[in-house]
Amino acid sequence: MKNFTTVNDIGDLHSAVKEALEIKADRFAYTDLGRNKTLLMVFFNSSLRTRLSTQKAAMNLGMNVIVLDVNQGAWKLETERGVIMDGDKAEHLLEAIPVMGCYCDVIGVRSFAGLKNRDEDYEERVINQFIKYSGRPVFSMEAATRHPLQSFADLITIEEFKEVERPKIVMTWAPHPKALPQAVPNSFAEWMNATDYDFVITHPHGYELDPKFVGNARVEYDQRKALEGADFVYAKNWSAYQAPDYGKVLSTDRNWTVDTEKMALTNHAFFMHCLPVRRNMIVTDDVIESPRSIVIPEAANREISAQTVLKRILESL
Ligand code: CP
Repeated sequence: MKNFTTVNDIGDLHSAVKEALEIKADRFAYTDLGRNKTLLMVFFNSSLRTRLSTQKAAMNLGMNVIVLDVNQGAWKLETERGVIMDGDKAEHLLEAIPVMGCYCDVIGVRSFAGLKNRDEDYEERVINQFIKYSGRPVFSMEAATRHPLQSFADLITIEEFKEVERPKIVMTWAPHPKALPQAVPNSFAEWMNATDYDFVITHPHGYELDPKFVGNARVEYDQRKALEGADFVYAKNWSAYQAPDYGKVLSTDRNWTVDTEKMALTNHAFFMHCLPVRRNMIVTDDVIESPRSIVIPEAANREISAQTVLKRILESL
């Protein structure tokens, strides 16, 4: 695997999950693979899980790891070509990226959507510049439109916990006070559509996602109806995708919060969320603390998805 930014880069999902579960059973089986190889993790945005799980995954493979928080201690970076750099940005990404590539063998990048200009966000300008100019394999640690390491971990988790062969998965929008990107729901939809699961998306009017990601999923605007018979409930907030409201918060209606009464409509479903989560906005305390909440095993599988991806990249060097 050269780069990892979408579900298409991982190939057959059955093989990928099988490999991930083998790695999970013996995560130090490949400690020689990354010997004398360096991973550079570049963060344009904050992180807890991605930072820790990806570093741990790289260490499991014997790699050295460098972490760069672009907004803390590095020169402020200009990302647009043609800008007269007479402001506070001292360095251009077009020099910074190839320089970063000199010091490592693999690069992970986290760069969220700005939520101001949909075309710019959906062009994935930052991570695509890393792919073009770094000279190194690049993987997404959440880009503007996708979060594939999260979705891969979500898939591994569903495969571990599912109690029926073809579970019903419901991704539900839930309220949040701030505008969040569509990367996690886009990506989750993309990965679920690549399985044979029964996949349903529910959200208020105005929160329609890019049809490219919705694919063949059923969209149901009545959350309660969508949740009926669900085996897994995947809660997430996102801001509006459709113009002219792109990037806006259209609703903070707490009638969409996942609570015990909503979970009672399901087939004794497992509750999932990528974290971090706003309690009693997205989900009530009792649901996230219930025995059917699998948010912690889901987060733990971030180490496994990252290690599987890094292993494949190292094998291709
Ligand atoms: N789920 C996730 O990516 O968490 P962080 O933002 O903390 O990395």
